[in-house]
Amino acid sequence: MASVALSDRLRTLLRGNGPVVFLTGAGVSAESGLATFRGPGGLWRGRDPMDLATPDAFARDPGLVWEFYDWRRAQAAAAAPNAAHRALAELERSIPEFLLVTQNVDGLHERAGSREIVRLHGTLWRVRCVREGTEIEDLRPRLAPLPPRCVCGELLRPAVVWFGEALPEDAFAAAARAARRSALLVVAGTSSLVYPAASLPAIAKSEGAYLVEVNPEATALSPLADEVLRGPAGEIVPLLAEAAGAIREGAR
Ligand code: OAD
Repeated sequence: MASVALSDRLRTLLRGNGPVVFLTGAGVSAESGLATFRGPGGLWRGRDPMDLATPDAFARDPGLVWEFYDWRRAQAAAAAPNAAHRALAELERSIPEFLLVTQNVDGLHERAGSREIVRLHGTLWRVRCVREGTEIEDLRPRLAPLPPRCVCGELLRPAVVWFGEALPEDAFAAAARAARRSALLVVAGTSSLVYPAASLPAIAKSEGAYLVEVNPEATALSPLADEVLRGPAGEIVPLLAEAAGAIREGAR
């Protein structure tokens, strides 16, 4: 169990004194057994995911990229939300002005019960026609032939953001708006290396927000944080939910 002390300022802010935003990354799903991008175990068939999550890789070999994404979907489907995901759903229910912004595409926040989620990098569970841009829920049966095609005959692609691509405009605008208004921004389980998501903490701080990092390791964000809570999200986020009165002490 992580032994971290929360400051009085953080406790006050968690009691609903102003808008609260949480920004999450792959580390929040690590305790559900899903590998982070830059941590150990991140390779797929010896390849760096970063070489597969690109428009170029898809143009070269859409079948291979789809195999990678179907593998990631199978991993995510087999995983269960952990204590951090559950605590975030409780925080949303108990703090009047609360927004969850995530870089994760695994769907575990949704499955834990979070309702309003800004998905900066899309989701594994939807597909998009490369010609029409129409996005639909992915209802392909398991083991359907790869790569899948739209009814129009063109390729379907995962509705996720790849390296070199722009984020969904409305999602980033909503996240930046919330960051600017926030009294408290908590950044959990992200290396803070991937932009523009990584710019949100600085945006919030420049408008006066209190900035907290939850991560077992030091990151690019640590020097900017007002408070650093070193430990796994599955232990620390429930402590924050307790301090907010969102869950009873010991009910993790
Ligand atoms: P990274 O893999 O870059 O970073 C994961 C972070 O989680 C690291 O800082 C770890 O120290 C931390 N971590 C590990 N275990 C943890 C735990 N139990 N609790 C809390 N933190 C833990 O993943 P992201 O920062 O999410 O983008 O990566 C950002 C983006 O880069 C991803 O959304 C993805 C990737 O390429 C796209 O696919 C567009």
